[in-house]
Amino acid sequence: MRNNIFVTGGAGFIGSNFILDLVSPSSNNLIEVIINLDNLTYAGNLENLKSLKDNPQYTFVKGSITNKDLVTSIFRQFQPRSVVHFAAESHVDRSILDSDNFIVTNIFGTHTLLECARDYFNHLNEEAKSQFRFLHISTDEVYGSLKKNSPPFSEKNKYEPNSPYSASKASSDHLVRAWYHTYQLPTLITNCSNNYGPYQFPEKLIPLCIFNALTNKSIPIYGDGKQIRDWLYVKDHCKAIQSVLSKGKPGETYNIGGLNEKTNLEVVHSICHILDELKPRFDKESYSSQIQFIQDRPGHDRRYAIDASKIQTELGWKPEASFDSGIHETVAWYLEHQDWVNHIVSGEYQRWIKKHYS
Ligand code: NAD
Ligand code: DAU
Repeated sequence: MRNNIFVTGGAGFIGSNFILDLVSPSSNNLIEVIINLDNLTYAGNLENLKSLKDNPQYTFVKGSITNKDLVTSIFRQFQPRSVVHFAAESHVDRSILDSDNFIVTNIFGTHTLLECARDYFNHLNEEAKSQFRFLHISTDEVYGSLKKNSPPFSEKNKYEPNSPYSASKASSDHLVRAWYHTYQLPTLITNCSNNYGPYQFPEKLIPLCIFNALTNKSIPIYGDGKQIRDWLYVKDHCKAIQSVLSKGKPGETYNIGGLNEKTNLEVVHSICHILDELKPRFDKESYSSQIQFIQDRPGHDRRYAIDASKIQTELGWKPEASFDSGIHETVAWYLEHQDWVNHIVSGEYQRWIKKHYS
């Protein structure tokens, strides 16, 4: 069986970091061809992968995971050894304003992908079956919200999703689990915490804060800003995915976190301080003066935190970046790639900002 890998949603934030990591010279993987299926929603950006334009190891297919014929044809043509499923609608605020696409992509799309994978898997010989893996990328948000002193989420926490986004991801996790138990499709699930790093669309807190700071706009903080997230540097996440793919046990779930619990206010202040250092404002005031407290997100989860001891003890992965090092690299990346940001803050982006923040 060829070592081909079928990635969905590879033009998005985590997917493109994952693909770039796979082809980087420092990566020891023996992948032959990476097939990236992405229908390029507002969040998909081929510019992230422009360095791979002439790379024979990489193929892009534009299309949706909901298109059964297309997904089937990809399985038939490329005979992948593994599927890494990132494609999703991923922004909580968008799911609150309009959940339709979340149900279609995250639930129906995952179902289509599972059914096509099952059909493909059933026709493999025994050796190829033993090598095949279907890895579903999910979120810690499926576990709901933690109290201040509760232990972090382990794989044993019950599912208590609170937003349309997290409910759609929870549904997809249940489907993936069922396809393992009912059909013996060798699936794995990872539930990770908030990622940050290069190529993140500036609707999410960290890139939005950097973009607004640099363009002299207010930096919006929902409610009191004391909500806590466990920040995971995307490059550490990519390494964790590779570990799960190569060493994880089918049917298992692995939680992935950054061991970096921070309030939103702490995160935003850190970014402002780094910007003050690297690109001081023309009037020498701190960027923190642009922080503005605004109306809270409905159903806003107070705290997420991940207990990553299972992946650490069973697969030997742990995050390498501290929050300080990761956020420094991230802010520096956005400063060096202002063209990348300027290209994506298109009409659609402006419409979203206007609709959501006014
Ligand atoms: P993203 O929004 O940046 O990218 C999603 C990608 O999926 C885009 O390229 C988009 O074009 C593509 N896509 C959307 N609908 C599609 C469809 N129907 N068919 C094919 N492609 C489609 O998301 P991300 O932040 O990179 O997240 C990737 C995955 O990781 C998601 O499943 C998300 O739920 C999960 N996750 C993200 C985070 C995070 O902090 N970003 C944390 C936990 C889990
Ligand atoms: O926990 C994993 C999840 O992390 C992923 O599953 C999601 O795909 C990803 O979007 C992210 O969800 P969050 O809602 O936590 O991320 P977001 O960047 O939207 O918000 C982070 C925190 O910052 C959250 O408490 C809301 C707050 N926030 C966000 C925005 C966009 C603000 O205070 N102001 C803002 O303008």
